[in-house]
Amino acid sequence: MSTPIAYQKCIVCGATFDIHAVLASCERCGNLLDVAYDWSRAALPAKIADCGRADATVDGGLCRVSGVWRFGALAPFAPVECRATIGEGHTQLRPAPRVAEYVGLKKIYLQYEGLNPSGSFKDNGMAGAFTHAAMTGATTVACASTGNTSASMAAFAAAVGGKTRAIIFIGDGKIAYGKLSQALDYGATTLLIKGDFDDAMARVREVCAAQKIYLVNSVNPFRLEGQKTIMYRVLEGLNWQIPDWVVCPGGNLGNSSAFGKAFSELYELGLIKKMPRLAVINSTGAPTLTNLVNERGLRWNDGKVDDAIIERYYGELDAKNERAHTVASAIEINRPVNLKKCLRALARTGGVARAVSDQQIMDAKAWAGREGLGCEPASAASVAGAKMLVEQGVIDRDATVACVLTGHQLKDPHATVAYQSYDEEKLRESYGDYGITTNRFGNKPVAVANDLGQIIDAIRQRGLV
Ligand code: F0G
Repeated sequence: MSTPIAYQKCIVCGATFDIHAVLASCERCGNLLDVAYDWSRAALPAKIADCGRADATVDGGLCRVSGVWRFGALAPFAPVECRATIGEGHTQLRPAPRVAEYVGLKKIYLQYEGLNPSGSFKDNGMAGAFTHAAMTGATTVACASTGNTSASMAAFAAAVGGKTRAIIFIGDGKIAYGKLSQALDYGATTLLIKGDFDDAMARVREVCAAQKIYLVNSVNPFRLEGQKTIMYRVLEGLNWQIPDWVVCPGGNLGNSSAFGKAFSELYELGLIKKMPRLAVINSTGAPTLTNLVNERGLRWNDGKVDDAIIERYYGELDAKNERAHTVASAIEINRPVNLKKCLRALARTGGVARAVSDQQIMDAKAWAGREGLGCEPASAASVAGAKMLVEQGVIDRDATVACVLTGHQLKDPHATVAYQSYDEEKLRESYGDYGITTNRFGNKPVAVANDLGQIIDAIRQRGLV
């Protein structure tokens, strides 16, 4: 029997599994799975510039609707009729001159994933996961989330799942309001669990295993197949030039893992000649990757990751009862499930990990906002991280850098309004706990009487007329 074109493969022991198997980890050794391909039998574009130009007649026009499926040739795991979409991936790469100046670069590009239908990059991945769910006949899906995965899952379940039921596991109080409103609005059953994301993630894995529920967190390798396309669109936005650096926030580390896989595959297929370097940015309130890589020397090491280092680190967190704590609630995660895949991505791209403070995150977020690209706090970790790496001399001032803005500003309006408008005393009262004590790039609203003269005065005082 010939090998199938697509299958699942353990990233550590290499065991392979059928493409239709529903697995959250390798059945032999418990490690993460990849979607792997026999590329020699795939219909690939001849050159990089042909990627993304899918023939609209092939899938009934779906590839026109979906910024994921127009790159379907680079993720050939599903029959065309199973492809799920809610119109994701119509995002854009924009030059951002004010941010460049702030960061200390000659130029910088922002990949704005807030434009996805549910307002975050997760829709790219969910297109992959719901496609695989359809292939397996799953009728109930679940995830743990800090809010964006759940919003995206709930939107897909409502829009494309037909009778698909969606169950969300949230750490109670650990979700921004915009995201909670989406889960409820889209009709998903939403469980508020006493605990944080790491607790919710542990429970959803147990429940899914026990009840045969389809898990769509990024341990699901089909999620990452969709998220690879974010990088294809970055390359497309650069007219297929390869950036020197791609900078992204790190939470559960699915995105960075997907980006590493995207570039590794393009390189192995001869479609690109150079690899960009990846920078993955934590908040100092949730710094697991950064600590493990920079302080404990954890490396991919050709798949022989030293598990003892990871276990010792988690043991220390538990002994101190240390919990993730950051204003960037989307990345408030201390036990990232894709840690090993991210280490692999760092190894293959010459990548680095850094942690930035919540103050640095909110300052950087204000600059992204000034470009008209409002993002939620976690997203701005990428901009703050780029600034740190320029200051450290790791990123060259002339480098071509793309920062991924992962989620829309309206996801977490509370944080934005507080930073932009509070006086510093009130800011310290509400956000001092996160180490946010100043809002030097804020933009306070102006209170003025309902009086023509006073309104014109207020405008004049600001030099606007
Ligand atoms: N940015 C945003 C806006 C996110 O929602 C997330 C993750 C990340 C960055 C980090 O990405 O996990 O791939 O490293 N949010 C997940 C969620 C955890 O549940 O919505 P990652």
